[in-house]
Amino acid sequence: MTGQKVTISVIKADIGGYVGHATMHPDLISKAKECLEKEKKSGLLIDFCVMYCGDDLELIMTHEHGPNKREIHKLAWDTFMEGTEVAKKLGLYGAGQDLLADAFSGNVKGQGPGVAEMSFVEREGEPVLIFMADKTSPGAWNLPLFKMFADPFNTAGLIIDLKCLDGFKFDVLDVKENKMVSLDCPDEMYYLLGLIGAPESYMINAISRRIDGEIAATGSVQKLSLIAGKYVGKDDPVLIVRAQSGFPAVGEVLEAFSFPHMVAGWMRGSHNGPLMPVPWRHATPSRFDGPPRVVVGGFQIQDGKLIGPVDLFDDPSFDETRKLANKVGEYLRRHGPFEPHRLPLDNLEYTTLSQTLKKLKSRFKKLD
Ligand code: F6R
Ligand code: MG
Ligand code: MG
Repeated sequence: MTGQKVTISVIKADIGGYVGHATMHPDLISKAKECLEKEKKSGLLIDFCVMYCGDDLELIMTHEHGPNKREIHKLAWDTFMEGTEVAKKLGLYGAGQDLLADAFSGNVKGQGPGVAEMSFVEREGEPVLIFMADKTSPGAWNLPLFKMFADPFNTAGLIIDLKCLDGFKFDVLDVKENKMVSLDCPDEMYYLLGLIGAPESYMINAISRRIDGEIAATGSVQKLSLIAGKYVGKDDPVLIVRAQSGFPAVGEVLEAFSFPHMVAGWMRGSHNGPLMPVPWRHATPSRFDGPPRVVVGGFQIQDGKLIGPVDLFDDPSFDETRKLANKVGEYLRRHGPFEPHRLPLDNLEYTTLSQTLKKLKSRFKKLD
């Protein structure tokens, strides 16, 4: 593959939960592997890895066709459709829940599944970390991405690695207006924070290195609620990050998750809760359908092959983070239906709570 670009496509969907919205049935993993194996044999894919986080099936694929390639998106769509048939047979919960369209229309973006893709020329050693979260939304990546690529108290490399010294460019999506703005860090850090501190409105879509424009990270930014116009589950996000030699080290990337920051999601996509980094075996949000959690698969990419994954959060050095997450989770839970545990009303506009307001509309009496 020398000199040639490899593309990583991570496409995910919830096509049926086991039990409820808690985790993944092994038959869905087997079916997805079967579908992707066929296309590895046909040559469409170089390699693939099927993972899950909670009730989300994660297809990690490498190929030579660039982002937004119809054939790759169709493969993901067809895999989710076949998986949905298995989910239906098993009576899994919410079978096909994220497949919002009746038929594939050329690109899975806007059809329900979450997508993160990037292309690059492989370095001699190419460490890539794929993060997958459940019971939260793509805005959950804002804080850890900022820490990774803009905070020298997190990433020593920002002041030590010469390729990092000029900083990184952040592409930020205004979700509600469907507009994108690029901001350079460190120069425009305060502007950036002004936006991404409101993670349900502004989401970091991609980050590149300023010195040479090399892509560093890209996250999924689909918001199911805005796609469907009504609440259809949280748009549990994925994120691809390149690490080492000119990017944050693997440990600096992971360090950004050592603080279990508060994210929107959890029960019914309507509650704030801490994002807990967990090993794969704990990718099973159960208490109050949560708390929200994130897993990571670490890979070395070699000639497009996915060498891995490694379960990088399976490390006792994250035990204190998990403890704090549970403590914060417990504190928030005691608020029951009160804010700030429950999301503010404007973030609930697509839940059934708006129906409650409609029902009460005629009973509200104007005061003088
Ligand atoms: C949150 C989530 C769950 C469900 C909850 C109710 O992202 O998936 O918390 O919202 O279990 O689910 P339904 O409405 O399917 O009964
Ligand atoms: Mg579900
Ligand atoms: Mg989910």
